[in-house]
Amino acid sequence: MKYVIAGAMVAAGLLAHGAVRAADAQTGGDGLGKYIVGDKRSGYVFAEPDTRAMQDDDFQNPGMVWVEAGKQLWSTPDGAAGKSCQTCHGDAATSMKGVATHYPKFNPRVGKVIDLEQRIDMCRAKALQAKPYPWESHELLAMTTFIKNQSRGMPMNVAVDGPAAPFFEKGKESFYRRRGQLDLSCASCHETLEGRHLRADVLSQGQTNGFPTYRLGWQTLGSLQKRIKGCDKQMRADPHAFGSDEYVNLELYLAWRGNGLPVETPAVRK
Ligand code: HEC
Ligand code: HEC
Repeated sequence: MKYVIAGAMVAAGLLAHGAVRAADAQTGGDGLGKYIVGDKRSGYVFAEPDTRAMQDDDFQNPGMVWVEAGKQLWSTPDGAAGKSCQTCHGDAATSMKGVATHYPKFNPRVGKVIDLEQRIDMCRAKALQAKPYPWESHELLAMTTFIKNQSRGMPMNVAVDGPAAPFFEKGKESFYRRRGQLDLSCASCHETLEGRHLRADVLSQGQTNGFPTYRLGWQTLGSLQKRIKGCDKQMRADPHAFGSDEYVNLELYLAWRGNGLPVETPAVRK
């Protein structure tokens, strides 16, 4: 099957040979050790040295602008209740430390798994009596990036047992489901072809520990769901809607695949 996929992609002119940086990726050389946990490899490992350096230096990392913006929003009152996030949660450096490592997470109030963006908007609606931030708005990206940044360096640790189990199964099914005109699944590229070239890119495992991520290709920071929509297009499959159960369940599966990898938010990628 592996060869059938590779064959189809070569025919489509998509795939070239060569596994640049594969040596480092295998051995954890070049200071990459903490980005490799067992057989899990962060996208950092596959990134160009210049891109890694940009991520590593907070003064150069363009994603830090969103962290700062989120910090401002955290303590700014909004909505009919006249409260800010800080009113209830205090200093985010303490109250939000580690929180993002558990998202997506089952929420008993809505009876399903929700992601961090949805949890933020839930507090905005219920606690602040403010309008939810729209998907991919500057504010939602800023708040999500700020909160996830409070867990930087901590290992991802989502739960997929108990009430989360059925949602995890759905996410797994969507990771392996072949879709679109090229009849590819997420696994076709991010498992089977890991380390191979696709046009100008080296295919990574499609890990999510760095999201929201600043992409040089976007010239801005974006959510994981924006990235997944881009991959759907590469598969020539119709993308789902932002916030759809399909994407949130897939996010849970992706997070679990990377359990143990350190949070990098805001990561920088090509
Ligand atoms: C009126 C008090 C109140 C305000 C104001 C408030 N929250 Fe919350 N928040 C809560 C409560 C209560 C919970 C549920 C705690 C739990 O699940 O253990 C919660 C949970 C959360 C969680 C999930 C924590 C976890 O461990 O899963 C996040 C993230 C969060 N809030 C973000 C925010 C943000 C961002 C804001 C500002 C937009 C905000 N909250 C404003 C009361 C508040
Ligand atoms: C045709 C090949 C292809 C398919 C199929 C594909 N992707 Fe990707 N994906 C890419 C490329 C190319 C990149 C950018 C380089 C990299 O990180 O692999 C990427 C990047 C990603 C990233 C970002 C990784 C990081 O470190 O920033 C995630 C997450 C991701 N893909 C998830 C998915 C999901 C989920 C699916 C299935 C819905 C999917 N991809 C299907 C080609 C693909």
